[in-house]
Amino acid sequence: MPYSVELSDVATLRLLTERDIGPVLDAYKRNREHLAQWEPARAESFFTTADQTRILTGQLEELEAGAGYPLVFVNGAIVIGRMTLSGIVRGPFQSASIGYWVDKEHTGQGLASAALRNVVTHCLEDLGLHRIEAGTLLHNVGSQKVLRKAGFAPIGIAEKYLKIAGTWQDHLLFQRLLSK
Ligand SMILES: CC(C)(COP(=O)(O)OP(=O)(O)OC[C@H]1O[C@@H](n2cnc3c(N)ncnc32)[C@H](O)[C@@H]1OP(=O)(O)O)[C@@H](O)C(=O)NCCC(=O)NCCS
Repeated sequence: MPYSVELSDVATLRLLTERDIGPVLDAYKRNREHLAQWEPARAESFFTTADQTRILTGQLEELEAGAGYPLVFVNGAIVIGRMTLSGIVRGPFQSASIGYWVDKEHTGQGLASAALRNVVTHCLEDLGLHRIEAGTLLHNVGSQKVLRKAGFAPIGIAEKYLKIAGTWQDHLLFQRLLSK
């Protein structure tokens, strides 16, 4: 059974498919300003079908290879957010990184929190992971709250960890341990 969870009356969280390429592009166009301070600087080409096809096809290949788990928040056929597990490593690590965003019209409705709680359970019960890691900008209070509510604990500050909005910026790293 493919992963799909109803989060609310308006939002379902499910695996990305090829059919989502157009709706993901539309969502990025609508949310360009909303996401700008939280994401890497985007070239103009990022907002084209060609780039999104390349990026999302890559994510679907990672899903196939067991290296990633790309999800979309949808309202019908409209994409209203993303949550993505990347860098899934097996062996003695059994760990993955998680990132997410919610459409500006749908923030403050508990969607990120509900999604993360579900994904945490799925990571333990179905993907067999031991650990999930996430990093937030130091001033991203909303995202930190989402993580803490899902049982993530801060593990320290990584200096100049990611180039966000064109600048190498310090991040507060979190982890959620899943197995004993
Ligand atoms: C961060 C983000 C994903 C939160 O999504 P969301 O669906 O609005 O989150 P929730 O509704 O589940 O909110 C969880 C809690 O955080 C709080 N919160 C959300 N945004 C907040 C903000 N900017 N400042 C303070 N608190 C905030 C909510 O009030 C809620 O608190 P409560 O449970 O006590 O009511 C969303 O604002 C977003 O997409 N931001 C831009 C991209 C981004 O920052 N991604 C994460 C990168 S690490």
